[in-house]
Amino acid sequence: MTEAATDAPMIRMVEVDKFFGQLHVLKNINIEVPRGQVVVVLGPSGSGKSTLCRSINRLEPINSGLIEIDGKPLPAEGKELATLRADVGMVFQSFNLFAHKTILDNVMLAPVKVRKMAQPEAKRTAMELLERVGIANQAQKYPAQLSGGQQQRAAIARALAMKPKVMLFDEPTSALDPEMINEVLDVMTTLAEEGMTMLVVTHEMGFARNAAHRVVFMADGEIVEDSVPTEFFSAPKSNRAKDFLGKILTH
Ligand SMILES: Nc1ncnc2c1ncn2[C@@H]1O[C@H](COP(=O)(O)OP(=O)(O)OP(=O)(O)O)[C@@H](O)[C@H]1O
Ligand SMILES: [Mg+2]
Repeated sequence: MTEAATDAPMIRMVEVDKFFGQLHVLKNINIEVPRGQVVVVLGPSGSGKSTLCRSINRLEPINSGLIEIDGKPLPAEGKELATLRADVGMVFQSFNLFAHKTILDNVMLAPVKVRKMAQPEAKRTAMELLERVGIANQAQKYPAQLSGGQQQRAAIARALAMKPKVMLFDEPTSALDPEMINEVLDVMTTLAEEGMTMLVVTHEMGFARNAAHRVVFMADGEIVEDSVPTEFFSAPKSNRAKDFLGKILTH
């Protein structure tokens, strides 16, 4: 790590714009996430939350603006992009595990292929991570043999196996049955407490209140509010946030 990178925000987006054809989905996005901070992104469907996440590890290219991870601009392509992606772990709503590989192999795969980690070390690390997310006893099973909550915890372990600097979560519990949501949120809360820098799109208001340092509220491709959770939930400034909270909190 260079000296310069140490003080830089872990995620920095400056005047980022993104279009899908005519549709302006990210409008002049400016955000800095310091090292160790947990940011929850809220907002109505279609407001651009997933696109924001996906642009941060360049699953979606942006049209203009700047994105930096740990002080370094996002490379456009090639080997540098692969290295940067390895620094940014991502967990999606759908677990995206390789169906024909065991849970252990799923977690070992990227460290061996991308980080060129030796098999024994990769296995040891993978087992430690599976232990940490509470599914070490499922290591030899295939994804379809696990519950949704267990699969999502495996997906988190797989992302962590790359030793990322940042973790992005896009609605990680939305596809889960209610009884499995907490086991995934518990893992995420522990990660947050351990100091991982996290950007989390979620509708879990308990997590937003308890684990987030900051809430970013998006509407129509814009960041409308950016405040601490207590402030956002008790005194939202914009009508759009008030409307959103009114709908979501009466569920
Ligand atoms: N690949 C795509 N091609 C064209 N339009 C897209 C594409 N992906 C997203 N969009 C549009 O961009 C806008 C933002 O979508 P995005 O998925 O980022 O919203 P979101 O806030 O994550 O919504 P949700 O809460 O439903 O997941 C929406 O209008 C969506 O229809
Ligand atoms: Mg989305």
